[in-house]
Amino acid sequence: MKILLIGATGTIGSAIDRELSPRHEVVRIGRSSGDFQVDISNSASIRQLFEKTGRFDALVCAAGNVNFVPLAEMSEKDFTLGLQDKLMGQVNLLLIGREFANDGASFTFTSGVINREPILTGSSAALVNAALDGFVKAAAIELPRGLRVNSVSPTVLTEAMGKYAAYFRGFKSVAAADVALAYAKSVEGLHTGQTYQVG
Ligand SMILES: NC(=O)c1ccc[n+]([C@@H]2O[C@H](COP(=O)([O-])OP(=O)(O)OC[C@H]3O[C@@H](n4cnc5c(N)ncnc54)[C@H](OP(=O)(O)O)[C@@H]3O)[C@@H](O)[C@H]2O)c1
Repeated sequence: MKILLIGATGTIGSAIDRELSPRHEVVRIGRSSGDFQVDISNSASIRQLFEKTGRFDALVCAAGNVNFVPLAEMSEKDFTLGLQDKLMGQVNLLLIGREFANDGASFTFTSGVINREPILTGSSAALVNAALDGFVKAAAIELPRGLRVNSVSPTVLTEAMGKYAAYFRGFKSVAAADVALAYAKSVEGLHTGQTYQVG
């Protein structure tokens, strides 16, 4: 399969790369790194990406930014990053990417644990993650041509605990290699409309 992997250099993305590249052609994409570049918060940039990569069998997105701010300090503008980048970025990857997707192709997006287990400063992340998982469930039943869409909702990664441990006290982290298996299940299996909770 030809797999477009957005966020390929990241903590999650690099583990997905290690899992899938022995069996598939993985096209590595980042904001500034990789074989191709894209800013998922910009739909023109997304279209330019697909015009360069051409048709594909699977798209995996392990990228997406949100602001972490205490609710007491949050204003409307603090939600903009999460809505434009992690949420609409991934939604637009499907809306635009479906034109370039081969029959039976899959889309796999990344949400996260924070809407299931809230943390301090996590209200924007929770909003975006829940919206993504809801989008996946609903979009799946309307996709034509055998196209599929799933999301992966990991808990905090062991490899990210250096950065995030203070926000995730009491959480049992999960190894990136284990999270990557959920992406393989989505890409190489036949499920659609699913959210894989890992950890
Ligand atoms: N780490 C965790 O514990 C964890 C747990 C649950 C969910 N998640 C979610 O998983 C996703 C990835 O997290 P991560 O920790 O693996 O990230 P990361 O290590 O910071 O890597 C992010 C990757 O995404 C690319 N990227 C960033 N912004 C982008 C944009 N606007 N457009 C296109 N590519 C962009 C980066 O490319 P460049 O390097 O070229 O900038 C990099 O390859 C995030 O949505 C995060 O919320 C993470």
